[in-house]
Amino acid sequence: MQSRPIRGLRGERVYLRPLEPADVELVHRWYSDVRVQALMGDPPISLAGRHRRYEEAVKADDADVFRFMICLIDDDRAIGRTDLFDLDRQHGSCAFGITIGEPDLWGRGLGTDAVNAVIDFAFGQLRMERVWLDTDAQNKRAQAAYAKAGFTQEGRFRRAFYQDGRWSDDIRMALLREEWEARPRARSWDLAAREYNP
Ligand SMILES: CC(C)(COP(=O)(O)OP(=O)(O)OC[C@H]1O[C@@H](n2cnc3c(N)ncnc32)[C@H](O)[C@@H]1OP(=O)(O)O)[C@@H](O)C(=O)NCCC(=O)NCCS
Repeated sequence: MQSRPIRGLRGERVYLRPLEPADVELVHRWYSDVRVQALMGDPPISLAGRHRRYEEAVKADDADVFRFMICLIDDDRAIGRTDLFDLDRQHGSCAFGITIGEPDLWGRGLGTDAVNAVIDFAFGQLRMERVWLDTDAQNKRAQAAYAKAGFTQEGRFRRAFYQDGRWSDDIRMALLREEWEARPRARSWDLAAREYNP
């Protein structure tokens, strides 16, 4: 029997594991979906290009970027990606990005759950003081998910996002350590402990 991964970096229903080169075809399918492209603003690239990009990225893994796959705790199915990047250890900040790659899974709380898992890692393991992100001002679902995780809006970058023949603004949102500490919810490690040390 194949053993299951240890689901240590986790939320209530999802967990995070490192991105592997073998994930590239699945990720490519997600990012080739126009519904995902429209929200991420990514241009289409070939599978070969994605392979090259991922192999280089995974090999070059360094302390300044963490790339994760988001998987369902129930059956280990991979459903999306999240990254921490632009890690600035002196000033204690990093950026993050997230995609649930299967549009039929949007709006079910899984994104917020994954955001909680990745910020628990940023604050609880990497000792960050501030985690931030930029999102298209039109992307209300993403902003609602980040707000549920405690993020607040810090600013607006005018005409920073061009997609489908129109400009829109980018919204900067961030979460500070004490705001994360004040969130009344079980942390990633509490949830893991419940499963592994009942
Ligand atoms: C953004 C994303 C990660 C959010 O994850 P999710 O699982 O869909 O989000 P959740 O279900 O946790 O939360 C979404 C919230 O947005 C709300 N929402 C949905 N559409 C909305 C709208 N048009 N206006 C306001 N709120 C909206 C939902 O009601 C929900 O809040 P609720 O739980 O209080 O009802 C996911 O939708 C995704 O990957 N989208 C495609 C890629 C993307 O946009 N990435 C982010 C780029 S910055």
